[in-house]
Amino acid sequence: MHPLARLDHQYVWHPFTQMRDWLRQEPIVIVAGRGPWLRDVHGREYLDANASIWTNLHGHNHPRLNAALIRQLRKIAHSSALGLANEPASLLAAELVRAAHMPGSGVRPSHQRLSKVFYSDDGSTALEVALKLAYEFTRRTRGPASRPRFLSLQGAYHGDTLGAVALGHIPLFHQTWRGLLFKTDTVMAPYCYRCPYNRARPERADARLYRQCRWECIEVVARQLERQRRMRGEPYAAFVVEPLIQGAAGMIPQPQGWLTRIAELLRLHNTLLIADEVMTGFGRVGLPLPPPRQPDRAPLFACQLENVSPDFLCLAKGLTGGYLPLAATLTTREVFDAFLGRYEEFKTFFHGHSYTANQLGTATALENLRLLRTRASLRARLRLQQALAETLPALWDVPQVGDIRQVGLVVGIELVRDWTTREPFDLREQAGIRVCRAMARRGVLTRPIGNVIVLMPPYCTTPAQIRKIVETLMLACEETLGRPSRARSKSRVRKPSIR
Ligand SMILES: Cc1ncc(COP(=O)(O)O)c(C=O)c1O
Repeated sequence: MHPLARLDHQYVWHPFTQMRDWLRQEPIVIVAGRGPWLRDVHGREYLDANASIWTNLHGHNHPRLNAALIRQLRKIAHSSALGLANEPASLLAAELVRAAHMPGSGVRPSHQRLSKVFYSDDGSTALEVALKLAYEFTRRTRGPASRPRFLSLQGAYHGDTLGAVALGHIPLFHQTWRGLLFKTDTVMAPYCYRCPYNRARPERADARLYRQCRWECIEVVARQLERQRRMRGEPYAAFVVEPLIQGAAGMIPQPQGWLTRIAELLRLHNTLLIADEVMTGFGRVGLPLPPPRQPDRAPLFACQLENVSPDFLCLAKGLTGGYLPLAATLTTREVFDAFLGRYEEFKTFFHGHSYTANQLGTATALENLRLLRTRASLRARLRLQQALAETLPALWDVPQVGDIRQVGLVVGIELVRDWTTREPFDLREQAGIRVCRAMARRGVLTRPIGNVIVLMPPYCTTPAQIRKIVETLMLACEETLGRPSRARSKSRVRKPSIR
């Protein structure tokens, strides 16, 4: 075993990892990266097919991000945001507000709703900030008798700090901590592939395309919002949603129009919308088709694709292009104003972190936004979106593929025991884990979510590399789950959906 792997085994405790299994085999120790590639201590190269847990945008070791980071390092690495402003944090806040502006809305960027930026460190803290602000804003606007409650989606994952965990609804991750948490409510997520209201028989196509329903999922939310008002005498403080696609829930996409309808309901019910775009932000959910010609007009956030303007926009992961931990919670002037007052009124938002608005992070994030605004980035994202749409249908030949869900540059492939009945694999069989291990042996790295294989490569990944990733997945399925049938399924393969 390599000495670094031995040190890891001796000292490091890995997140979301059964360490007994981890200690059974030599870990892959990464020493370098370039573009979509990662290299380990033995010189083996791997395609980073999940962009280092959904963080990396433009590829590793990007010359412009490196240069921005080094430029900032020559000036200063960090000074506190408690009592001091700093150069890249001020510039970045203005750029984030501009990016969150709804292109084509007719509203001038200087008049837009999301106009204040609170920095923190990662996705979980971005959600904590939104949660605390929404809680206190609700009490201040509705009065001290208000008991703000939160609603989030079935299968929701919003991070691992306790407030974020309280918003989560994945029993495997969240049940253990129940005794530490405040109560939140959950409501059905639009999971077309396994929706009880979808009357369609399984087909070899993304379930959103062939579903047969009457949008009952919206009625369910409407009833839940009504019930809260009736039973507790006031609406929910906020509904927390990952717009367009839920990530850790299993890459569960919403049918087009779901978000718009939900936003309308929330407005009627005087309930705030907290958009968790930790995963979906910064172009991940792709471009509208046909794409805008001007990079400046290309939406960077999932909410923008449905013309929805949330009350809170939580950003992390891709904010620095996958370089450094940094997060931002954007909110409205209305929320900001509720925290203004004379000092002795103590309306201050008493919350912050030592590294809030760190200069290395904010300088890198600023360059990341500039990169996203280039024609080259727009072209690369479009090319990747199309390469995925053209390559993924080959996976319908794999009998264990039940659903292929692509939202822009995010893909979830749900493995099932029997696609004709949607019968799932028992989690204890570790179908997803075994398939990903077999992919790693062939030079492609990703992590499953249960039985769902995630593909979310950096934007610089080429069509040829996408083909390699998909072929590797097919071979890995064959090796671990059994041979695919020779003939393509008789069932019709529909044209892929790309958002
Ligand atoms: C949608 C979403 N929100 C929040 C988080 C938490 O982010 P972090 O791991 O940076 O705390 C994640 C992490 O995967 C996420 O996917």
